[in-house]
Amino acid sequence: MSELKNQVALVTGSSRGIGAAIAKRLAAAGALVALHGREEQSLAGVANTIREAGGHAIVTTGDVRDFHAIERIRAQVERELGPIDVLVANAGGSFTPPAALEDIPEDGWRASIDGNLTATFLTLKSIVPGMKARRRGAIVTISSAAARRPHPRSPMPYAAAKAGLSLMTQALAMQAGPYGIRANCIAPETILTERNCTRIPADQQLAMAEQHPMSRLGDPDDVAEAVLYLASDRAAWITGIVLDVAGGAVMV
Ligand SMILES: NC(=O)c1ccc[n+]([C@@H]2O[C@H](COP(=O)([O-])OP(=O)(O)OC[C@H]3O[C@@H](n4cnc5c(N)ncnc54)[C@H](OP(=O)(O)O)[C@@H]3O)[C@@H](O)[C@H]2O)c1
Repeated sequence: MSELKNQVALVTGSSRGIGAAIAKRLAAAGALVALHGREEQSLAGVANTIREAGGHAIVTTGDVRDFHAIERIRAQVERELGPIDVLVANAGGSFTPPAALEDIPEDGWRASIDGNLTATFLTLKSIVPGMKARRRGAIVTISSAAARRPHPRSPMPYAAAKAGLSLMTQALAMQAGPYGIRANCIAPETILTERNCTRIPADQQLAMAEQHPMSRLGDPDDVAEAVLYLASDRAAWITGIVLDVAGGAVMV
């Protein structure tokens, strides 16, 4: 399949987990993929996997909470691959455990906002102007089921950051649509990444799966398939949506 043939795709946070699965899927669809993270060794492993499968990948590094670092990443991608056609703003995570509001530490709040909402804002701020100038681009941001409804397992700062991120994506879709740019957001429920497989005990995984109409937790490839669809011309008239990739656990 080559529906993204020779399109340049930057996937932030693709050294492991969901981002790595997205990068592999886009590369298998013909994209020239820029991998990104902060740790070279795991990025090299993902790059090797892509190359062994016949795909094309380069490695970029930098902290997405730092605008100058993102500008350096963008310049490297443009130099080595060309202007960015597809941006998947995936880097982020949950940086403080669930707690009652009054027990949430201020640094946990700030880390969640910085690492998700501000990081995604800065990434878009760096990449969107080039897309506007070329009057083309597909953007997919990664929110969370945590942002779709209050849930006792969801840390409040993470949920708030991801809810802000999905609204920001919709606001961008309004602004950038006239420039031929689409911006969509994916909100996954719990995905069995390497980290979640070890972090969540097996019996808890089973109990959580039962809360999903599809009776299982997500796989990184479930998210990767949705990203490929939204990034491709098959979704040419779809912009400003928040897509729940959640096995039916979220229906809004
Ligand atoms: N897993 C789930 O169940 C789930 C559910 C809903 C939403 N999500 C969202 O999906 C995205 C990926 O989650 P995941 O579970 O695959 O996460 P993960 O395994 O922890 O991987 C996170 C990736 O983002 C990178 N990253 C994080 N913060 C960064 C920063 N400040 N600067 C540069 N790189 C950074 C990490 O790179 P380093 O090597 O530099 O750490 C890594 O490549 C996140 O936005 C997360 O909130 C996940």
